[in-house]
Amino acid sequence: MKGTAICPGSFDPITNGHLDIIKRASRIFEKVIVVVLPNAAKKENFTLEERVDFIKRSVRGIDNVFVDCYDGLLAEYAKSHGAGIIVKGLRAVTDFEYEFQMALTNKKINCDIDTIFIPADEHNMYLSSSIVRQVAVMGGDISEFVPSDIEQDILKKLRRL
Ligand code: PNS
Repeated sequence: MKGTAICPGSFDPITNGHLDIIKRASRIFEKVIVVVLPNAAKKENFTLEERVDFIKRSVRGIDNVFVDCYDGLLAEYAKSHGAGIIVKGLRAVTDFEYEFQMALTNKKINCDIDTIFIPADEHNMYLSSSIVRQVAVMGGDISEFVPSDIEQDILKKLRRL
């Protein structure tokens, strides 16, 4: 499909679930920008630089995916980059109310924006950045949860190795 889509998130850190949605969006849209934004409701665990670096390393080789960060409103970022579509993954019904609220808010701020939802792969239904952090801190194996290139860096930071 022609045009640019945005995959936004706090990506603290990126998981295999995020990566799956990004890859699927990259097959649908001409260009995909993955943008790291602040989520006022969440405390960050990884710095902005770390999160952007983890994403860049995870999407290496996917030619139409670009990575960026922005300290402001997603709707404004989309407008200034000529993107009309926001892509979000949906894991379960429990995600829906929160995502629906964000989609309507973004449309209110910028009426040219639509959000489309891609259902999470069944293997990633349970997966979230906070699950990755919890398992890592407790000494568990996160190799099935995050891209292999960044696994050790996540463990290093969270276990203070
Ligand atoms: O991965 P997350 O934490 O669910 O992503 C949420 C995020 C970062 C996309 C959202 O909080 C966001 O868009 N933040 C930027 C500020 C903004 O535009 N807020 C209004 C829309 S709710």
